[in-house]
Amino acid sequence: MTNSFDIRVETLGKPAESLVASPVAAPETLLRHSNVARGTFFLETFGCQMNEHDSEKVAGLLLARGYQQVESPEAAGLILYNTCSIREKAAQKVFSRLGEYRGLKGEGKKIGLLGCVAQQEGEDIFSRAPWVSLVCGSASYRRLPELLARVEAGEQRVTGLDNDTDETFETEMTRRDNPWRAYLTIIEGCDKSCAYCVVPFTRGPERSRDSSRILAELHQLADFGYSEVQFLGQTVNSYADPSSRKMRFSELLLQAAQVPGIRRVRFTTSHPRDFTPDIISVMDANSKICNHVHLPVQSGSSRVLRAMQRTYSREEYLEKIAMIRSAKRRTAITTDVIVGFPGETAADFDETLSLLDAVKFDGVFSFKYSPRPNTLASTMLDAIPEEERSFRLGLLQERQRVIQSETLQSLVGEVYEVHVDGKSKKENSWYGHSSCNRVVSLTSSAPDLLGQYVKARVTACTANSLLGEQIFIS
Ligand code: 5AD
Ligand code: SF4
Repeated sequence: MTNSFDIRVETLGKPAESLVASPVAAPETLLRHSNVARGTFFLETFGCQMNEHDSEKVAGLLLARGYQQVESPEAAGLILYNTCSIREKAAQKVFSRLGEYRGLKGEGKKIGLLGCVAQQEGEDIFSRAPWVSLVCGSASYRRLPELLARVEAGEQRVTGLDNDTDETFETEMTRRDNPWRAYLTIIEGCDKSCAYCVVPFTRGPERSRDSSRILAELHQLADFGYSEVQFLGQTVNSYADPSSRKMRFSELLLQAAQVPGIRRVRFTTSHPRDFTPDIISVMDANSKICNHVHLPVQSGSSRVLRAMQRTYSREEYLEKIAMIRSAKRRTAITTDVIVGFPGETAADFDETLSLLDAVKFDGVFSFKYSPRPNTLASTMLDAIPEEERSFRLGLLQERQRVIQSETLQSLVGEVYEVHVDGKSKKENSWYGHSSCNRVVSLTSSAPDLLGQYVKARVTACTANSLLGEQIFIS
């Protein structure tokens, strides 16, 4: 995968002692309020940011019920595995991991499968892995307290598999993994019907959260010291406020940017069809709204886009890019591309390569097409052989590597505001993200920069990131 952007987050798995602030109450307070100590849980997460954040909410819910989070399945009474089924490989991994848990039921441990594979495979999981006692898809997480109570009472096969809901997952408490950047789901599910994608089946229909609840949560996050928020949704910009306020997505961004203490507002993933000029206007109007847009194109060929049911053509996508580039602020654009979709000819693939040349994306997440259950594409006949898919993927990644390296070179000398979120092993060396989500490593003589926003001048670059030094200008 060629990318200079870090838009995924690390896996949860830290012990309860390392919890960071929660929007409602410090975890310790909640632990004191919960009436029973229920033992320990281990939660492993695979997949997208939505999954990572769902796990943060599930962990919060468990902590509020009196559980303690531990770092290994060996130390846990309850083992939960939040799964991804976007591509076949990810789904296969679930079954090999479940195999590892085979003997654990005999030791009195309870095992639960959450997320997309749980939803996709449903009750079949119990036949394939009888040691599992809970199978729950994301559209049923709001029922988790009830489902967990049944597991705790010793029920052997508990399921949460409703997939046609208009409700969202609201928790009193979220166990957040990053002390500065908080993830906040504003829309769940997906109503698009891209021919290759399982998400509409595994995450259910689109449900937006009430704008007033989102903003109230954000105020709490700011009170807890978070300075950066990332709004999440499979199609985040398709947000449709269900309240009478009917707040547009762009207005929600603007309101979020005005919350005292919030310095950066991000959002991902945007769907090209719903990427409207008002989003660019608010980005221009308020520099707290980060100048980065993740806008998956999937293919550069209008013919393939039609077969994918993406609802836009190459030309229409390029018009969206032109609109973003016409903004006053220079905005970084990243994308997702699938190669080897059924029927993709060499000429179609060339159009994807030429689109990379035309747009010069700042980062590309590229994938070989993988047939998924229930999808329209899985019934298409013209499959591209695995070898050809790999060949095309390699060509695409090489083309993007060259484009990106030219872009990064051209940024030497630029000044960025960097939100420092890590200390590197080297002395006086730190790293963080720019507003446009570039990774910047910087040197500074300051004793501690963690969590701070500092200015850095870019002095050099590597294949994927920028190197710089802290400077002191206002
Ligand atoms: N095969 C390959 N890639 C896929 N994606 C989604 N479904 C598939 C599939 N069946 C990719 C898309 C999407 C990203 C999250 O995963 O590029 O934007
Ligand atoms: Fe899948 Fe398309 Fe929905 Fe994205 S917009 S989650 S690719 S169906």
